[in-house]
Amino acid sequence: MSTIEKPVEVDGDKLMQFVFRAVDEVGATLNAALVVMGDKLGLYRALAGAGGLSPGELALRTGTAERYVREWLNTQAAGGYVEYDPDSGRYALAPEQAVALTDPESPAYLPGFFQIALGSVIDSPKIVEKARSGDGFGWHEHVHDVHEGCERFFRPGYNAHLVAEWLPALDGAVDKLESGALVADVGCGHGSSTILMAQAFPNSTFVGSDYHDGSIETARRRACEAEVSDRVSFQIAPAAAYSGAAYDLVTMFDCLHDMGDPVGAARHVRSTLKPDGTWMIVEPNAGDRVEDNLNPVGRAYYAFSTLLCTPASLSQEVGLALGAQAGEARIRGVVEAGGFTRFRRAAETPFNLVFEARP
Ligand SMILES: C[S@@+](CC[C@H](N)C(=O)[O-])C[C@H]1O[C@@H](n2cnc3c(N)ncnc32)[C@H](O)[C@@H]1O
Repeated sequence: MSTIEKPVEVDGDKLMQFVFRAVDEVGATLNAALVVMGDKLGLYRALAGAGGLSPGELALRTGTAERYVREWLNTQAAGGYVEYDPDSGRYALAPEQAVALTDPESPAYLPGFFQIALGSVIDSPKIVEKARSGDGFGWHEHVHDVHEGCERFFRPGYNAHLVAEWLPALDGAVDKLESGALVADVGCGHGSSTILMAQAFPNSTFVGSDYHDGSIETARRRACEAEVSDRVSFQIAPAAAYSGAAYDLVTMFDCLHDMGDPVGAARHVRSTLKPDGTWMIVEPNAGDRVEDNLNPVGRAYYAFSTLLCTPASLSQEVGLALGAQAGEARIRGVVEAGGFTRFRRAAETPFNLVFEARP
């Protein structure tokens, strides 16, 4: 018996809409490299507040080659990252573009976001191989743009929210920090959260830790530059084995889901906290169900999770691989399995959820 296949009907308009959407996405993919290029060459900084420059003027101010700069400017103008005035042939940054592309103190600062995205794409051939074998790929194995981009991406959010909103949302934590608390910042990376807290609470002592030696080296340098080294120390240690005891506060910023054994880490936090201590867990904002996260923030985080977070967890013992979009219910499960009896959502932003866990 033969079956005759019915031709599948393709809606030509829908097909072209999809193709044009893809054209935009290819431009966006390449733009990650171009934003990092503009950031590294100082092109955005030279444009900011300059009131309109020709490619030649911008090249002169940045010590770059005019022909490259002209092409870069055109792609930036086509993507809406730079304004172009056809009458004068000059390019300028609108005030909002200038803030987002050149002000590292602004919560809207973007170059770090692109830098970690570009680093993730650069390493993606390795992830393709790991997806075949099922093996992991450690955080420490990534290119420097992932580590530095991560610091530059997260720091503006911590600057804006950590001291002003997140710590005050924890029961009694700020009083303790003001009078003098012992704090462990676990999975601290380059230490931006550790240093920020140390600057805000001069009576408290901070111990940052991370399993990645390169990150801890940078964190130590950053602490020296910020002149807080007298109250901030850093150690190379996995979350399940950092040293010290009787901590008033343990913090984890965007790292619990990266760990292979988050339950083991939770048990260790429990054993190093004072009985009335607090564990603050900052995680990417996510709903519990896949369908809750099918939006632009969820898209970016699932992508980072595929290229960075899931392979990182799979590279470690247990390899639970929570994923960056774990959601509150799974985080609660990890925290309770680690022996904590109280857990609540204390604060949130469009990008982060902040949880408070108590013994
Ligand atoms: C996304 S980064 C966040 C870094 C930092 N907390 C921040 O907010 O900038 C995740 C960090 O978790 C660290 N990490 C992953 N697994 C770890 C583990 N088992 N123990 C300690 N640190 C770990 C990585 O080395 C990396 O620095």
